[in-house]
Amino acid sequence: MRPDFALLERLRTRFLDAPAEGGDYWDSPELLAAYDSTFAERIGWKWDSVLAELRARRWAPPAGSVVLDWGCGSGVAGRRVLAAFGAAHFSRLVVHDRSALARRFAAERATAAFPGLAVEQAPDWGDVAPAQPFTLVLSHVLNELSPVESAALLALVRRAAAVLWVEPGTSDVARALVALRENLRSEFTVVAPCTHNRACGLLTPENQRHWCHHFTRPPIEAFTNAFWSEFSLRLSIDLRSLPYSFVVLDRAAAGSTVAVTEEWSRILGEPREYKGHFKVLSCEAAGVTERMLQQRDDKPLFKAFRRSVPAPPLFVWQLRDGKIASGRHWSAAGDTPAESAPDEAQNQAVE
Ligand SMILES: C[S@@+](CC[C@H](N)C(=O)[O-])C[C@H]1O[C@@H](n2cnc3c(N)ncnc32)[C@H](O)[C@@H]1O
Repeated sequence: MRPDFALLERLRTRFLDAPAEGGDYWDSPELLAAYDSTFAERIGWKWDSVLAELRARRWAPPAGSVVLDWGCGSGVAGRRVLAAFGAAHFSRLVVHDRSALARRFAAERATAAFPGLAVEQAPDWGDVAPAQPFTLVLSHVLNELSPVESAALLALVRRAAAVLWVEPGTSDVARALVALRENLRSEFTVVAPCTHNRACGLLTPENQRHWCHHFTRPPIEAFTNAFWSEFSLRLSIDLRSLPYSFVVLDRAAAGSTVAVTEEWSRILGEPREYKGHFKVLSCEAAGVTERMLQQRDDKPLFKAFRRSVPAPPLFVWQLRDGKIASGRHWSAAGDTPAESAPDEAQNQAVE
């Protein structure tokens, strides 16, 4: 069904102009449904990218844990997580939102999508943390929270067995996620996006202007489907560019120094092309550094960057004079990468 664009325009103005205004904006199931098939679907594409990376890194949330989708809205994030790892991987889904309408909508959609799964709505007030180990799912909530609400959320994060947190790719939100990572990295293993558990290299004075963000491409229907072109046009949303920031934490192996072997580097943002070379912002265990890739040094890699960086953007660089002489992508790594990363074997039932 075609969504009501006037409703969506109102919602977008609210998201953009007054994110931290406070107060519940979900005033009807129709608004949630319109959101679910548009803005939330776009958020779902970001989740698809994050979840594909986690699977490529052979990480899964603790088996048997409860999924708690906090600030669930229409519930897209929880559903994407359940679909990615299989509903049977988890014991149940709990949806939480300050809006009772959102909780009900998210619970109904999840029940329809995963008929065998136990789905609950968190209580209106009081402690929303399940008694059992839980995987906390957070999506596009940070810039709506007051300092007091953020502090309460951080306390909840500290009780989770694992945290999957996806936000927009804007500098302010991405920096807030880095600050949270710093706050939590002694209590959790940082699974992604990082390739190490050390202090974030973006916190140095010379990296102040950068932020930890990533890009993914929407599925093909975003470009071929008339509905998505109308959505893009009416709401002035560029569907080609899907920037996001994220962090994934696992309490298992907390305090371990690396989540993958530290030879891996991650490209932040997108490589920038100049005449005969690219510049990439490379996040490495030793810090975040701008590195150059010259066309003549690794032609296939140069060509690949022109199309788009292969996902996940993880590479082992061969360096010469600080420049990239060649790069080996994660997909060529076979079975090697995860060293002390929590893997399926470690994620036995946590009950
Ligand atoms: C931008 S929407 C994102 C919804 C959903 N997580 C997603 O990714 O589509 C933010 C959600 O956070 C909820 N929210 C905002 N402040 C909250 C709070 N203090 N406690 C619980 N939910 C909150 C809103 O009601 C809304 O559903």
